[in-house]
Amino acid sequence: MALGLSEPQYELLNGKKKYVQPIIHSMVLIGLVVLVVFVVFLMFYVSWMTFEDSNDQNTPMDFVLFGPQKYTSSYVAAYRAHSFAIAAKSNYKTYWAAKDKINLNKRIEKTYHLACYYSIPIDNTTKSLHPAQINATLCTHLIVAFAQVQNNSVYFKSSFDMEILRQVVKLRDKNPKLKVLLSIVHFSNGSHSNEGFPGVVSNKDNLDTFVSNVVSVINDFYLDGIDIDWEFPSWPLLNLQEKYGFAKLLQTLRYRLPDSLLTAAVAAPLNIIDNSYEIYSLARFVDFINVMAYDYHSYQWYFPLTGPNSPLFSSRNDTGYFQDLNINSSIQYWISKGMPKEKILLGMPTYGHSFILINEANNGFNSPTSGPGIGKDGFITFSEMCEFKSHQNATTIFDHDTRTPYSYHKNDWISFDNENSLAYKAEFAASLGLGGAMVFSLNTDDYSGSSLCSSSVFPLTSRIKIVLNDDDL
Ligand SMILES: *[C@@H]1O[C@H](CO)[C@@H](O)[C@H](O)[C@H]1NC(C)=O
Ligand SMILES: *[C@@H]1O[C@H](CO)[C@@H](O)[C@H](O)[C@H]1NC(C)=O
Ligand SMILES: *[C@@H]1O[C@H](CO)[C@@H](O)[C@H](O)[C@H]1NC(C)=O
Ligand SMILES: *[C@@H]1O[C@H](CO)[C@@H](O)[C@H](O)[C@H]1NC(C)=O
Ligand SMILES: *[C@@H]1O[C@H](CO)[C@@H](O)[C@H](O)[C@H]1NC(C)=O
Ligand SMILES: *[C@@H]1O[C@H](CO)[C@@H](O)[C@H](O)[C@H]1NC(C)=O
Ligand SMILES: *[C@@H]1O[C@H](CO)[C@@H](O)[C@H](O)[C@H]1NC(C)=O
Repeated sequence: MALGLSEPQYELLNGKKKYVQPIIHSMVLIGLVVLVVFVVFLMFYVSWMTFEDSNDQNTPMDFVLFGPQKYTSSYVAAYRAHSFAIAAKSNYKTYWAAKDKINLNKRIEKTYHLACYYSIPIDNTTKSLHPAQINATLCTHLIVAFAQVQNNSVYFKSSFDMEILRQVVKLRDKNPKLKVLLSIVHFSNGSHSNEGFPGVVSNKDNLDTFVSNVVSVINDFYLDGIDIDWEFPSWPLLNLQEKYGFAKLLQTLRYRLPDSLLTAAVAAPLNIIDNSYEIYSLARFVDFINVMAYDYHSYQWYFPLTGPNSPLFSSRNDTGYFQDLNINSSIQYWISKGMPKEKILLGMPTYGHSFILINEANNGFNSPTSGPGIGKDGFITFSEMCEFKSHQNATTIFDHDTRTPYSYHKNDWISFDNENSLAYKAEFAASLGLGGAMVFSLNTDDYSGSSLCSSSVFPLTSRIKIVLNDDDL
């Protein structure tokens, strides 16, 4: 019975063990839960603190850039502020060192790309720029803008658009080295609808459908490549599916189109760069990026002040984040984040932005304005600009800080680019050894050479070409 006696003891011990063990487990578990709750609380607390700070500082910036029209829904606006805080919290606020000192007198000798956007005209009237008028040897790349993305396919508005694309491709007969690309656009209206690019990257089937369609469009039209113009992935709301989806899209396109050119039109503001791009994927999969280094300032009702459309450097009166609203900051930032210089094309505008001054005596930068001025929505072409200057007897100032001119007469105030400002931009590109320049667009340059301040065709684009290729400021 000795065995019999010891068994219950053992059983008791066993029972006790069974009873004690769960208590220890529960206590460890409760401890862990408390720890996790504490850490989560701490994270929320810290992020809330930072959210408050950075939100106050940075909210105006993307309003300046994009305007209220993209954020009509208050739901979206609320989340936009949040995503903006996340963007501001990332590397934007950290110290980033530009490795390259700029010396505008030094340049890196090589062959530079000159990629020119050509917007498909609305119809076949004589007033707009038609493919036959494009000088086939002016640009190294012509990017035809735009086809849209709809239902996971490349969508042309009309057969007229396709006909124009075919005519641009034919320009290669005149210049066999010319590369013709089609730009596929998606403008986000601020909501994350499942259409356009967000839909394409939402699952593998959609992605495969889209990429296969792109491949057939390239073959059907004998294109040299494709330009992806998604403005912007993961913006204004941080959306990792879009951010990584964009990287996946580029990877898949590169894999399926090993011999075609693949480019992307990308943002210039630092916080969008942080929010939208996996720079590693751009560096690896695209032939070059077109940095849209313009629209830094245009009329907005909540920020109704004059400012340069495309400043090369900051203005002496710029403070805070306004100090980074310029080409130098954008390009140095792209480089500091790992984008290879030779894959960066510096985007240059041939158009300007107009404003109506409230007080014509107050006519420098940061002067109060009441609305967009001459031109559609305040966009003014170089030819319109020339007419304004000549007919109105306007005053034109070349601002040395930003290396851009502005012109005013009575209440009209216009920031624009001319041969000089674009020469500075081209020198800047050559001094850093970038891949070259992008021009937006041939349509807003003086393509007929008939305006009052130019005697040759495409004076602005030609000037960029000359400065990129010869040492001639
Ligand atoms: C250009 O940007 C870099 C990086 O922000 C800065 O260090 C440098 O001073 C800027 N150059 C000019 C002329 O503003
Ligand atoms: C535009 O009109 C011209 C002549 O009027 C014609 O030759 C050309 O094919 C037309 N282009 C398109 C795209 O329809
Ligand atoms: C076309 O552009 C090239 C390069 O800028 C220039 O040399 C040539 O004269 C231009 N051709 C015409 C017809 O304007
Ligand atoms: C979208 O594409 C699919 C096939 O890819 C087609 O069956 C469907 O009809 C298309 N829908 C629209 C609205 O075009
Ligand atoms: C944005 O576009 C989508 C689809 O095109 C539409 O459903 C949505 O209502 C639009 N949102 C806004 C705020 O305009
Ligand atoms: C900078 O601000 C001062 C004082 O308001 C003003 O006189 C000057 O014109 C401004 N300079 C520029 C380049 O905007
Ligand atoms: C143009 O402006 C200058 C001074 O800015 C003035 O002297 C001249 O009379 C003006 N000419 C005309 C035609 O308005």
